[in-house]
Amino acid sequence: MSLCKRRGFVFPGSEIYGGIANSWDYGPLGVELKNNLRDWWWKRFVQNREDMVGLDANIIMNSKVWEASGHLKNFTDPLVECKKCHTRFRADQLEKGQACENCGSKGFTEPKQFNTMFKTWIGATEEKPSIAYLRPEIAQAMFVNFKNVLNTTRIKIPFGIASVGKVFRNEITPGNFIFRTLEFDLMEFEYFIREKEWKKSFEYWLKEQEDWLFELGFGKKNLRQREHEPEERAHYSKRTVDIEYNTPFGWKELFGLAYRTDFDLKNHSKQTKVDLDYTDPDTGEKFIPHVIEPTFGLTRLMLMVLLEAYCEEKERIVLKLHPKLAPYKVAVFPLLRNKPELVKVAREIYDNLRGFSAGGGSAFGGMTSYDDRGNIGKRYYSQDEIGTPFCVTVDFDSLEDKKVTVRDRDTMKQERVEIEELAEYLSKKLE
Ligand code: GAP
Repeated sequence: MSLCKRRGFVFPGSEIYGGIANSWDYGPLGVELKNNLRDWWWKRFVQNREDMVGLDANIIMNSKVWEASGHLKNFTDPLVECKKCHTRFRADQLEKGQACENCGSKGFTEPKQFNTMFKTWIGATEEKPSIAYLRPEIAQAMFVNFKNVLNTTRIKIPFGIASVGKVFRNEITPGNFIFRTLEFDLMEFEYFIREKEWKKSFEYWLKEQEDWLFELGFGKKNLRQREHEPEERAHYSKRTVDIEYNTPFGWKELFGLAYRTDFDLKNHSKQTKVDLDYTDPDTGEKFIPHVIEPTFGLTRLMLMVLLEAYCEEKERIVLKLHPKLAPYKVAVFPLLRNKPELVKVAREIYDNLRGFSAGGGSAFGGMTSYDDRGNIGKRYYSQDEIGTPFCVTVDFDSLEDKKVTVRDRDTMKQERVEIEELAEYLSKKLE
């Protein structure tokens, strides 16, 4: 947490006003890491696939959506209150006989169901017809737009509709930094199938979710699957499996996978009287598709990526981020800041790598940093701490041999590379 704050990954929300509990803002490096995760997800699960299309829907939907989806009735957590200090807890997260974390008392009120959707009003009146909710999941937008997507694309079952965006939950016990917050970013898709295919599709998507984690650089030992007991499953799910990560505060849910059956489409069709059947273009068969839903918490994933990458070595702290995730791909230094001939070459390389030089720059175009403070050793350690895979130094020899020193974050090995070939060299290494 201290590294995140010190280096600009995550800041406490509204900090100069004393903050607001469980609110975090993503700083200059955090927004890059978060966007890199989001873009990788979008490319891998949407753009690279023939069977997936995207959607970007409104956060506020017609309130009737939440009636039909069952969220108004069922999106609840059991709430208990300490009778002495009135601190609130989730009953299902308290151990038997556990005392209040705040005052040590053991008396709690009886559990009551607390709906965790944030309520608001549209327009100038706070009366019932104008009540609206901030979405607690994106899924409903995919169900409500199911017909629109069918009518405007040539996509055939099995297929998915994917979306990324903010969701809001009035959690009773948020905490553990950005692990459980009141607003967070979610990436999820609804995958529409025939009922008879659900088991096969479920196994396929579980493997896909796990495979992506390995691609991101996660090791096997910190990941496991956990099947939900029937009583803990969400109201819409017939089977749920979580992929959990071994955090410093225990094994915790990272991603979820649910078999939502035809629950949502059926209920929306019933409520709106709109036909949400799918018609098989070859046989003419009509049916309401079933749904497998892989869901990926983006901000939670970012926390776990940082935990997995964080290494304390003898002399340095290093974030061993996958190069595709690293906020900066490369940092450029002149050996000395007060030597204009070194600064000139270093600035040219910096502009060229960013793709900003007069001739349009190199094809590399990756996020590039420039640093001329302190000595080279300090600059290396500063870049290691934020996960920059490569550092490039322009020294006096560079002026003669037109080569620079490239230093690798993980091996700390150094290599001389022709300035002319630097962009291509880095592109290849980063692949
Ligand atoms: N549409 C299904 C759905 O929303 P969920 O298991 O309730 O499923 C999906 O949430 C994912 O969102 C979780 O797997 C987790 O990664 C993330 N998540 C859930 N609650 C969160 C919170 N309060 N703060 C941050 N991330 C959260």
